[in-house]
Amino acid sequence: SKEDQRYRPNYHFTPKSGWMNDPNGMFYLNGTYHLFFQHYPDSNKWGPMHWGHATSKDLIRWEEQPIALFPDQLGYIFSGSAVVDTNNTSGLGDGKNVPIVAIFTYHDIAKEKANQVDVESQGIAYSLDKGKTWVKYSNNPVLRNPGIRDFRDPKVFWDQQSQQWIMTLAAQDRAHFYGSKNLKDWSLLSEFGKEIGAHGGVWECPDLFPVKIKGTNEQKWALIISINPGGPNGGSVAQYFIGDFDGKTFTMDPHFTQQLAREKAVWLDWGKDNYAPVTWDNAPEGKRLMIGWMSNWDYAQDVPTEKWRSATTIAREITLTKNEEGYKLRSMPVSQLSKYRGKSISKNKVLAKEMLLVKKDELNLAQSAMTINLKDLKEDTYTFTASNALGEKISFGINNKDHYLFIDRQNSGKTNFGNNFSTKISKAQLSKSYSEVSFNILLDKTSLEIFFNNGEEVMTEIFFPTKPYTALSVSSDARGTSVSMEGHQLNIK
Ligand code: FRU
Repeated sequence: SKEDQRYRPNYHFTPKSGWMNDPNGMFYLNGTYHLFFQHYPDSNKWGPMHWGHATSKDLIRWEEQPIALFPDQLGYIFSGSAVVDTNNTSGLGDGKNVPIVAIFTYHDIAKEKANQVDVESQGIAYSLDKGKTWVKYSNNPVLRNPGIRDFRDPKVFWDQQSQQWIMTLAAQDRAHFYGSKNLKDWSLLSEFGKEIGAHGGVWECPDLFPVKIKGTNEQKWALIISINPGGPNGGSVAQYFIGDFDGKTFTMDPHFTQQLAREKAVWLDWGKDNYAPVTWDNAPEGKRLMIGWMSNWDYAQDVPTEKWRSATTIAREITLTKNEEGYKLRSMPVSQLSKYRGKSISKNKVLAKEMLLVKKDELNLAQSAMTINLKDLKEDTYTFTASNALGEKISFGINNKDHYLFIDRQNSGKTNFGNNFSTKISKAQLSKSYSEVSFNILLDKTSLEIFFNNGEEVMTEIFFPTKPYTALSVSSDARGTSVSMEGHQLNIK
């Protein structure tokens, strides 16, 4: 349908039809990246959850596969993870094929309706054909509910140091860590997070992983926690903590503890549309790769698409840096994206009031990547605007006086649906004024992803223009700032 064509992204993953939320169970094996996702194939709203499935050779072009997991008598299949069980610790292998084991939450809707507390437990399923088809383990659940209503979203990895599987689980207002030798028997190791960090909503979709401080050999651990609601710009959002993990307990790094005291919460992405981001198991070259759900529980079920709902963010590579101000978990689009670069344009100018960076037909903005560097910034506001001939536009940029980045989608097209889609300008707090900044920007038909200063701060937001945006301009009251931009069309389809 026309509606479908109007809003279907050019290069972000969407299910062919039906509802999607969180990315689940991502693993890599033999050159293929697997992505599963919370899916209700029979409606464009949330419902009985399945795990949809898609595969990719390069994290950019995704091919949807048959549904991997269906709800059963134990419940809906909520979020979770998958691991490549190379040494067959689970005993679920057949001696020939490496078992892939998915660990997910069973959500028992009958118990929910009866107001019982033990609604959620953890189950496993395995695949002996590289993730194609799945068999549920006969003795589910493997982790019963201990009397906590919200008890979900297991993220499992193999911990080299303690030689066991570690499961991080969201338990209402904190994370629980469990250990297991075989993915079937789990024991509680410790918990983290009560009254630490942001608690505007329940904790969901945790992820714990090791990450080296860039340029050093020092290893830290990052703990990502999604919350709904409680985002700095409203609705659902992800925060993170930096610390150490000794095979049992996660302890915040002292430097991070100070940072948290100052900042109150540390956000992975300040935009409204990157929820439940988690990372790949077993990614090659020791890379830490992540993808998120590009929507927000505030309005996800009301966005103006009909056939399908929601896209994923671009896959991102995560790195960690440290300076006097604290730690930054940085995200940048995966390097594979650059191989799709087509037509390129570049501009180099000194800014006087307003200038056109991309004219209609110079690039197809609705599938483009841009790097824009500003030098000699004044303490002023710099606004980029992507717009169409109907006057619909999305504006974003930096307020270099009051220290924040922003996205304004109030006049971006269709906005009058759901809750709080465009009632406010979204902001990302910065700590200072800059004399030089860079913006890496990804534009698709219905999304904008901003990676500020090489991913130091990130903002991801969606929009629904009647017609795609075709021009990009920059404006400021300040004079004398130099603007250099390089834009690339992305030829992905
Ligand atoms: C997060 C979430 C998870 C849950 C899933 C259900 O968006 O609420 O906590 O497992 O969605 O679809």
